[in-house]
Amino acid sequence: MAPLSPNDPNSFSRPDLVVVKHMKFVLGADFKEKIFSGYVELTVEKIVDSADELVLDTQELHIQSVSDKATGAALQHEQVNDEKNKVFGSKMIIKLPAGNKFVIKIDYKTSPSATGLQWLLPAQTAGKVHPYVFSQFQAIAARSFVPCQDTPSAKITYEAEISCPKELKVVMSAIPVGDPIENDSVKMYSFKQKVPVQSYLIALAIGALESRKIGPRSTVHAEKEIIEESAKEFADTETQLKTAEDICGPYVWGIYDLLVLPPSFPFGGMENPCLTFVTPTLLAGDRSLVNVIGHEIAHSWTGNLVTNVNFEHFWLNEGFTVFIERKILGRLHGEKVLDFAAYGGLTTLKDTVKQLGELNPLTSLVVKLDGVHPDDSFSSIPYEKGYVFLRYLEKLVGGPSVFEPFLRKYFDTYKYKSISTDVFKKFFLDYFAANAAVKEIDWETWLYKPGMPPVIPDYDKSILDLVTKKKEEFLNWNSERRANFPFSIDELSSEQKIQLLHEIVNSGPQPIPKLQMWEHTWNMSKVQNAEIKFAWLRIGLISKWKDIVQPALDFVNDVGRMKYTRPIYRDFYAWEEVRPQAIENFNRHKKFMMHVSAFTLEKDLHLK
Ligand code: BES
Ligand code: ZN
Repeated sequence: MAPLSPNDPNSFSRPDLVVVKHMKFVLGADFKEKIFSGYVELTVEKIVDSADELVLDTQELHIQSVSDKATGAALQHEQVNDEKNKVFGSKMIIKLPAGNKFVIKIDYKTSPSATGLQWLLPAQTAGKVHPYVFSQFQAIAARSFVPCQDTPSAKITYEAEISCPKELKVVMSAIPVGDPIENDSVKMYSFKQKVPVQSYLIALAIGALESRKIGPRSTVHAEKEIIEESAKEFADTETQLKTAEDICGPYVWGIYDLLVLPPSFPFGGMENPCLTFVTPTLLAGDRSLVNVIGHEIAHSWTGNLVTNVNFEHFWLNEGFTVFIERKILGRLHGEKVLDFAAYGGLTTLKDTVKQLGELNPLTSLVVKLDGVHPDDSFSSIPYEKGYVFLRYLEKLVGGPSVFEPFLRKYFDTYKYKSISTDVFKKFFLDYFAANAAVKEIDWETWLYKPGMPPVIPDYDKSILDLVTKKKEEFLNWNSERRANFPFSIDELSSEQKIQLLHEIVNSGPQPIPKLQMWEHTWNMSKVQNAEIKFAWLRIGLISKWKDIVQPALDFVNDVGRMKYTRPIYRDFYAWEEVRPQAIENFNRHKKFMMHVSAFTLEKDLHLK
């Protein structure tokens, strides 16, 4: 299949011919209809003089009119649908007037089924009184919110005026401008994003939100029921931010706020600029899951400043981000903690390669996405294989003291740009031209061959040792001798417990009496830490333990984070006896899920 456009197989747009430089949104949220309506103004520039049309991505948008702002003249436009590219939405073509620069005004409405928006009923929120809406546009869902060049190969600045019922508050991935303007029952919030961003970084949420300052440039927003807890859990945000600056260079986005979403948010975190979105499952009570914040902070350089040109090069975003995330961890807690996390990542990488198959092209670092929706290619591979590659390169060139200055130079050179893997490769080889070791890099295998990476780094195992010991104890323990349960996990940190449980998942089904004993002693299915609970539920499901079915269903009905729901539903599917019950549960709950969750789980359950 031919790419939809030269720089991006997943977008119809042609920023190489005519580029959108700035967008102004003037929209109102209608919670009854579950739509946004209003207009957007696109500031457009021709790149190629002969170009006479602007091509935009749209998905289920109702376009009312298109005009040239300068003259008010209506512009001819059409939305083209092509059955075989249906998952990418419709191609919108606007005929351009004479000239080189325009502001084009588009009056439109979104659809209640917009893939990038989730409209929540009051019952789906913590407060249960007010509705809520949030966006998740990565990878290619911005087109369901606004007609745009929905490709990371192009960047725009934006401003917005968003209105909502006056009991609610709007937050966006931008800097708030002034106080909201109130009239009658409506409040209007204004924002400005002065740093050019790719379309998937446009983000907004509206709900009954409270705000607490947690640092000199950080405020956390959440429903009042979880605001205090959130402020405590994320109190170390500024420390992580400063550490990231120390590694990467100056933070250009002004503020770094957090929005803690309702539980149906499909990801752990999303690096929306100025305002990271996070799942409430990070509220473990002991700050043990704040590496996700470190990860999203790292995206302020890797992904948000230096951006993958399209999702075939997604590892440039995520692999680098995991690499920086773990450097932050190392700076704050030491090299041993860094290596323990890296080892955990290696466990994830092995699991993913096994699950996808070692010949699966999606286990390559750089993938082909012609005709493939990026959501279908999503996995831990770009994260963890990318991490291993960068760790290999770092060691090869002489370690962090040599590699970190290189990284800063790379960020500084490609900030505000979108690049492919070849650009990175060339920059790396030029920078290290005098370093003989780089000749031995087998780029072809690392970048384009499926399966496990050709070189696996040797990580420090001192924190892992206790986990290994506990695992042996557990696996060798004879559950017939119930009275002497040999097994205490009190000495383990939350991170060690999580690793232990993952390793037990990978050890296959366990005798049920052992699980009962463990549950009885440690109350495992009631723990607050979502990572621990998730792994525990999986151990039970893999062991076909009937008592775990209901807690596992309750968990996936409550929590939308796909990192948890996908493996649990896959375990349910593999257990034939409970499969119908799980499918019935999914069908009953899918209307409460974000589109990306329902779409992905449907495939995991072989329903599509
Ligand atoms: N940018 C991703 C989330 C994402 C990826 C959304 C692709 C849509 C499409 C985010 O930075 C991320 O990787 N989140 C992880 C955090 C983890 C790796 C620490 C998550 O959600 O679990
Ligand atoms: Zn990420």
